[in-house]
Amino acid sequence: MNNQQKLKLAVFVSGNGSNLQSIIDACRIDNFPAEIGLVIANKTESFGLVRAAQAGIPTRIVLHKDFPTRELFEEQLLLTLRDFEIDLICLAGFMRVLTPHFIAPWLGRLINIHPSLLPKYKGLHTHERAITAGDKEAGCTTHFVSAEVDEGEIILQRSVPIFQNDTPDLLAKRVLKEEHILYPETIKLMAHKLLVTS
Ligand code: GRF
Repeated sequence: MNNQQKLKLAVFVSGNGSNLQSIIDACRIDNFPAEIGLVIANKTESFGLVRAAQAGIPTRIVLHKDFPTRELFEEQLLLTLRDFEIDLICLAGFMRVLTPHFIAPWLGRLINIHPSLLPKYKGLHTHERAITAGDKEAGCTTHFVSAEVDEGEIILQRSVPIFQNDTPDLLAKRVLKEEHILYPETIKLMAHKLLVTS
């Protein structure tokens, strides 16, 4: 842990990075127990890189396309992290499945946000699937990352109603708003846990 007793985060992004933005904003609040030390993107066009640069956060691009195997890609991620004394990795819209090669050394310190009320709707198209199933509520989940996709232990959840005539887009927006509350809340919880046990 660094000497200000703040959890040092690495945030992994692929796309828009609105969850990253919610974490950046939370870290600006007095006494928030974390700071972002590094943002890694696996896509050059990720807007998350712009958000990080605007906030003065170091960024690294590790393109999965540049590596012949998943393991070599992950090896590069591990190497990149090594220079930054990171305590916790937050996947925030990182569209790459990680294997045990990467996960094992970070087990318990690697978390993700998923746009459904897990264990329902692992994988993609969560909002469409919830509407099609006739569910009355949807939501988002933060969880530890384990070898099976979206299977790791649940940390926190927030739910929203599904309305009649809802569309996946409308529902996605409603859920995303909750994600932006949930991720900072989860990081706060993790900070208390990791600061006490380290
Ligand atoms: C979010 O819905 C997140 O739950 C999912 O991917 C989306 C990323 O959005 N894993 P953003 O890039 O944070 O805006």
